[in-house]
Amino acid sequence: MNSKLSASLRKSAIIGVSVGALTFGAWGTANASDYYQQFGGKAGITALINTFVGNVANDPHINYYFAHANIPALKFALVNQVCMAVGGPCKYTGPNMTDAHRGMQITTAAFNYLSQDMINAMDAHRIPIGAQNYLLSLLAPMEPQIVTATGPLG
Ligand code: HEM
Repeated sequence: MNSKLSASLRKSAIIGVSVGALTFGAWGTANASDYYQQFGGKAGITALINTFVGNVANDPHINYYFAHANIPALKFALVNQVCMAVGGPCKYTGPNMTDAHRGMQITTAAFNYLSQDMINAMDAHRIPIGAQNYLLSLLAPMEPQIVTATGPLG
């Protein structure tokens, strides 16, 4: 191959790789700290948790579970937990999910209502759908630690 042609092929291969990398960056799977940005950082997560806890408080299916809750402490714990989960510089230092929910008689239905309250809060804050799904994919596997009771809906 003449050297001019091989140089131009090398060049186009490099352009191909960098276009591929850009494509991946724009449309591929985001990394954890991209998700933190998509949640609006610490301020965005704090606003999201305020809305979420408000939704739970207004949700007649599950709000009685929280009748004796320490709401400021719960919000603080949730902000740190979500911030850490989405790749932010926070640390959740509270109890694990089994200990935090022991004896609360939480059902699968209650877990699902709470998840919907989080989805509604994320929609209200215009969190991109990929970032929403990322957080939900981290919360869903906690269900076996949290759900300890069977209700009329299972
Ligand atoms: C993935 C889902 C859930 C997550 C990530 C989660 C997370 C948490 C966290 C971080 C705490 C604070 C623990 C502490 O600092 O002591 C907590 C407490 C609590 N959670 Fe959950 N939770 C979930 C689901 C639920 C569900 C479905 C219910 C009931 C419907 C529920 C009811 C409560 C209550 C009543 C408290 C105690 C609040 C207090 O006594 O001050 N949680 N949860």
